[in-house]
Amino acid sequence: MRQGDKVMLGPLIQSDGPFLFKWMNDPVITASNGAWRPTDGMDFANWFQAVGKDPGRITFAVRRLGETRPCGYLSIMAIHAVFRSAEMGVTIGAPEERGQGLGRDAMRLGLGYCWDALALERVTLRIYGDNQAAIRCYQGAGFAVEGVLRQAAFLGGRRVDITLMGALKGG
Ligand SMILES: CC(C)(COP(=O)(O)OP(=O)(O)OC[C@H]1O[C@@H](n2cnc3c(N)ncnc32)[C@H](O)[C@@H]1OP(=O)(O)O)[C@@H](O)C(=O)NCCC(=O)NCCS
Repeated sequence: MRQGDKVMLGPLIQSDGPFLFKWMNDPVITASNGAWRPTDGMDFANWFQAVGKDPGRITFAVRRLGETRPCGYLSIMAIHAVFRSAEMGVTIGAPEERGQGLGRDAMRLGLGYCWDALALERVTLRIYGDNQAAIRCYQGAGFAVEGVLRQAAFLGGRRVDITLMGALKGG
């Protein structure tokens, strides 16, 4: 559906479900999303079956070019019809697949979709704690740091900052 240098964004298919369910309960990934409780199998099944029907959210599978197996997923959430804004997030599921530019390529494609297909003008995201890889990845995709919410979250037994990043259509 959208193809970059390394990955493509496309529709989720049934066989992606077990990958997403595993990643949504991975301790590193849940911490990076500010989550503090597991995703139940029943809740996940309901969400997965209805994923294409939620008007406020679009979720893509991220696949390496030429591969069927997903390497991650990308979500566009909180789509606001009046402000023309949304939030976006990406996960590269397996640790050994991180740091190869897949996340950055996916975020570039996701931003292009926000501008060209959704007619949005502003996209934001939140980073929990000290996650330099995420900040670097998003900066390379066109996001800038807009501020820090000091000690705004509680993760892993301590208070951590939330870094706010944003991207504007046209840079
Ligand atoms: C964060 C994430 C989406 C980034 O995707 P990715 O494919 O690994 O990232 P990329 O390879 O595109 O870019 C990573 C950048 O961070 C840099 N980096 C990696 N580890 C780093 C570290 N410990 N400190 C500083 N920079 C680091 C890389 O060098 C690269 O930057 P560069 O290309 O300018 O050199 C992915 O690693 C991930 O899903 N991680 C687990 C969950 C998570 O942290 N999600 C973020 C939620 S906000």
